[in-house]
Amino acid sequence: MKIRKATRRDISRLVELWWELQVQYFSYDLPYYRNKSKAACFRLCQKRLEKYFQDPNVILLVAQQGSAVIGFVIGEVLPRSNYHRVETYGDVGPLGVAAGWRRQRIGTRLMQALEKEFRRRQVRLAQLYVDRRNHPALGFYRRRGFDERMVHLIKWL
Ligand SMILES: CC(C)(COP(=O)(O)OP(=O)(O)OC[C@H]1O[C@@H](n2cnc3c(N)ncnc32)[C@H](O)[C@@H]1OP(=O)(O)O)[C@@H](O)C(=O)NCCC(=O)NCCS
Repeated sequence: MKIRKATRRDISRLVELWWELQVQYFSYDLPYYRNKSKAACFRLCQKRLEKYFQDPNVILLVAQQGSAVIGFVIGEVLPRSNYHRVETYGDVGPLGVAAGWRRQRIGTRLMQALEKEFRRRQVRLAQLYVDRRNHPALGFYRRRGFDERMVHLIKWL
């Protein structure tokens, strides 16, 4: 298994992997994609990914086993946050490993590579959002040294 930078040729596979995650997230009641057809969701994701490939601040990494892409992570270098004394910070997400490949350190390898790339770009703080009910992801990020600091409050209007 190797971790490498994604290329435009990966887009269709990335859309599939992303969709796998969205379907899982529906159970956390994110309403946006659930109300659209699958084809419309695929088009939106493809558009978003194409934009990412034009943005030098976006880091897109994939895990490849043989010829198959089985995981990915997207990171973005953003300007100074309001809350932390840093010039830039690294926003993490989404991150996903295909269902049959989990618990084999692939997520760990993806995050290690992303953190390395952040550090190479002088980024010293990484942050991310994760649903409180997503226990596997919370377990994973805690194990990677992420600490709960801010509380993200939402209210549907
Ligand atoms: C979160 C995710 C990326 C983890 O990837 P992974 O390749 O399975 O993780 P790893 O094998 O590298 O796990 C490393 C450690 O994280 C923790 N961990 C991973 N999965 C876990 C789970 N289901 N429950 C609790 N802890 C977990 C464990 O400590 C694990 O070490 P161990 O296997 O020796 O116990 C994967 O579960 C996934 O794709 N989930 C769906 C998408 C998602 O929720 N993404 C995050 C939100 S954007």
